[in-house]
Formats: sequence, structure tokens, C-alpha cells
Amino acid sequence: MPGETITIQAGQCGNQVGLQYWNQLATEHGINPDGTTLAYPEDTSLRFSPLANTTNAQTTTKDRDDKPELFFSCESSRERYTPRSILIDLEPSVINKCTSKMPMINPRNIHLSEQGNGAANNWQQGYIYGTNYETELISLIDRELDKCDNLSSFQLIHGVAGGTGAGVGSKILELLNDRYGTKKLLNTFSIFPYNEGTSDVVVQPYNTVLTLKRLIEFSDATFVFHNDAMNSIENLLYAKKNDIDRTAANAFNETNKLIAFIAASVSNPLRFPGYMYSSYDSIYSTLIPTPDLKFLTTSIGPRGGHHSNNAYDMILELSNDRYKTNRAGPKTNYISMMNYVIGDSFNQQEIKKAILKLQKRTNFVPWVPRSIPVVRGKKSPFSEAKLSGIQISNNTSIVEMFSKILNQYDMLANRRAYITGYTQDNSEEERERVMDMFRDSREVVARVVDEYDRCKSKEYLEDEMMDIDEL
Ligand code: GTP
Repeated sequence: MPGETITIQAGQCGNQVGLQYWNQLATEHGINPDGTTLAYPEDTSLRFSPLANTTNAQTTTKDRDDKPELFFSCESSRERYTPRSILIDLEPSVINKCTSKMPMINPRNIHLSEQGNGAANNWQQGYIYGTNYETELISLIDRELDKCDNLSSFQLIHGVAGGTGAGVGSKILELLNDRYGTKKLLNTFSIFPYNEGTSDVVVQPYNTVLTLKRLIEFSDATFVFHNDAMNSIENLLYAKKNDIDRTAANAFNETNKLIAFIAASVSNPLRFPGYMYSSYDSIYSTLIPTPDLKFLTTSIGPRGGHHSNNAYDMILELSNDRYKTNRAGPKTNYISMMNYVIGDSFNQQEIKKAILKLQKRTNFVPWVPRSIPVVRGKKSPFSEAKLSGIQISNNTSIVEMFSKILNQYDMLANRRAYITGYTQDNSEEERERVMDMFRDSREVVARVVDEYDRCKSKEYLEDEMMDIDEL
């Protein structure tokens, strides 16, 4: 039986995505914004949205067969659910938004900086802050852990390119590894910034490379969401809608809802358990063959219309590169792939037909079985969609994406541009120390790029054996 998951959300991006994530989970389990619950319905046409706080159907009750307690704790005397989540930020606005929209969030689970002015898009500032407040952060995590009967995993939601999600996030990864090591799974939902045609902050490649090193060393599975790809998906899915609010304050709203839907769907078979894949362990061990090959791409297909009723179309749409959360193309090789089909009933023949087609189309690396497992997930009785789905794959699109980041990093690092933001003083030794730290992170990332590149070859496993023999 899987145990509980504790979520840690850090920085603006982490908390904004986190807000949508908890909205999605609460919706699926019929939990109101204040943590009280709706009657568990038999009537699956019930519609409910915690953020909008509306419900519009009659229900009849039945015993729950979902497991919200894996992600929410519940004080039985109050019968109120509260997310097993720790919210960290160095400036208050996003966390204030989270608590006002979702009063179910426990104020004791919040860590806000007293200065309240953020980490200035600088990994180092976030990391140092995390180091200075290590004891407070650990005690928050330990207190949450004490509320669990059998903690299985931690998960971090964060942006990799700013100061807080990246720097404090990196520190959290180190702390979790030091304290709980291999005993608990640690997965991340990591958001990568735009790098096409927009003027995001210039030092983002430094922050990203420094964060990637910690993800490579300490996470067991990292779900990659690239804002460029998310933006394209959003445009495709909402092309005919004029009602998307694209003002600065809500620029990421739709993207975050998509990320939240995917992140929530990943744990569908844990929260609505069936026969298979009812633990993160079983899902990740199917997708991740070696510790370095752990950067996962997801897809989300069009929802609504005829797609929602047809598993065959949905599975094929999920394989369409246009719906991937990290840009993939015809040359992308696949190490593994898993499709989730979530609904009340499925046409098994449709699923079988779609998988056979996918097996023929998919460019697998030569040393893996070409199997494509399907998670037949149970639909939340509170959700509208008759059928929904996601795909998770482990593929070589990571090579292109990380190489781009390394190129951008090199352009800055070769000139030692902007490194004073990362140094403690202006001495030559300090500059050298920082450059060493940068070089070390770069090497770790380059090794993973090389690993993803090498895994395309037939001899990959044999090379691995030789590497082990040489030790
Ligand atoms: P500081 O602001 O330096 O304290 O760190 P932070 O972690 O709060 O920074 P932030 O979360 O703003 O991360 C930086 C990058 O994440 C931005 O350049 C954006 O590309 C991206 N980002 C910020 N907010 C969001 C969001 O709500 N959703 C998504 N998808 N990306 C975001």
C-alpha cells in the first residue's frame, strides 16, 4: 500500500502552480476551499470547482473509495482536509493569494521571509537563504511528517530558473536527501523558463544549470515542463477561445492549470486505487531504467468534444508531439512510454488498437522492450470529463533542451558575465570559487546529456557494463 506524499512548493512559480494543483486535487475529491467535504456522489454528473466555489447537482452518498488522505491530512474532530504541503516564498503576494483562495491551507505550513523582497532571480541568494533557515525548514517538514502514518514520498513543485524555487528548491533537495536519503521517493515537477523570443532574466541559464545539478543528484523522477512548449499547447487547446485572460497578472493561469492537471493525473492510480500502478514506485520503475535517465516528458490531449469519449483518438493524440510539455520531434527516441486513460468505462479494443499503432510508430531506443503500458485510471466522481488522459514518456528530447541551456550558459560563463551576483566579495579567489562551482554543475549536466545521447545506441547497456567493470 502506498503511503502519504508531502508536497513542497517554492517560489512564485512553485506556489502559483501549487495553487492550481491543490484546486485540481480538491475538485477530484470533492473538497471545498475551506477543507470541508461534499457528499460523495453516485451521480457522476456533479460539477464542482473549489476556486469558483460552485456546485450544481443533487447527490446521493456512498462510501468513499478514493484516498484523499494520501495527499491531504484530516483532523477527524473537525472533518476538514488540509493539503500535506509546505509553502515557501521570499515574498508574500503569491502565498497570500493561495491562502485567500484556499483557506484549507494550514498557515503553520507556510515559510515566508521576514524581509519579503524575493531572491532577485538569483540562485545563490535563494540557496544561501535556504542554508540560513535550514533549521526552520526542517522543522516544518518534520512536523508535517509526524502527521503521516507511513510517508512514501516527497514532491517539489518549483521553477528552475529564478532565485527562490531554484535556490531554496536546491537546498530543500539536499536537505531531503541528507535526512531521508533512499528511504523515501523524491520527485519534482520542474518548470523551465521561456527561451524563445522573450526577454526573461539574463542569468536564468546559471540558475538552471545550478538547479539541474541538484535534480540530477537527488531527485528520483523529474517531470519537465518547458514554458515554450506549454505556451504552444495552450495556444492549440484554446485556439478558438477568446476568453483567456492574458494580462500580466494572469499570464500563466492557463499554463498552470494544464501543469496542475497533468501533475494531479500522475497520482490518479494512487488516489483512486485499482489493481495496478497504485504507487509512485511502480510507475517510476516502469519509466526510469537508470538513475540518470529520469527526466520525464508528459502530454495532455485536447479535452472536450468527441475526444472525451474515444480512447483510441485520445491515446493517439497524446502521442502527438504538439501536445508534449517538452518539445519533441520525429528524431526523438523513446526509452519508455506510459499512457493513462482515466474514465468510468473503456473500450478495451480501442485501447489495444491504439497501443498497437503506437508501438509501430514510436521510435524506441534499441535495447528496451517496445511495451507501452496503459494505466486504466478511475475517474473522479466529481469530475465532468467522461474520459481524460495523459502520457508520460522518457525520451531523448532532453538532449536538445539541456544542450540549449548549456550553450546559453557557456555564452555567459566564458565571459564570466554577471558573476558578481553569485560572489560574496570581489576577490579573485572568490570569483574562482564561484567559477569552480559553476563548472562542476555544468559537468554534471553535460554528463546526463551524454547519457541520453548514448542511450540511443544498441551497445548502451554493454557500455554500462564496461563502465561498471572498470570501477
Ligand atoms: P525569485 O523571484 O528570484 O525570488 O524566485 P522565484 O522562484 O519566485 O522565481 P519565479 O518563480 O518567478 O521563476 C522564474 C521563472 O519561472 C520565470 O522566468 C518564468 O519563466 C517562470 N514562471 C514564473 N511564474 C510562473 C508561473 O506561474 N507558471 C509558469 N509556468 N512559469 C512561471
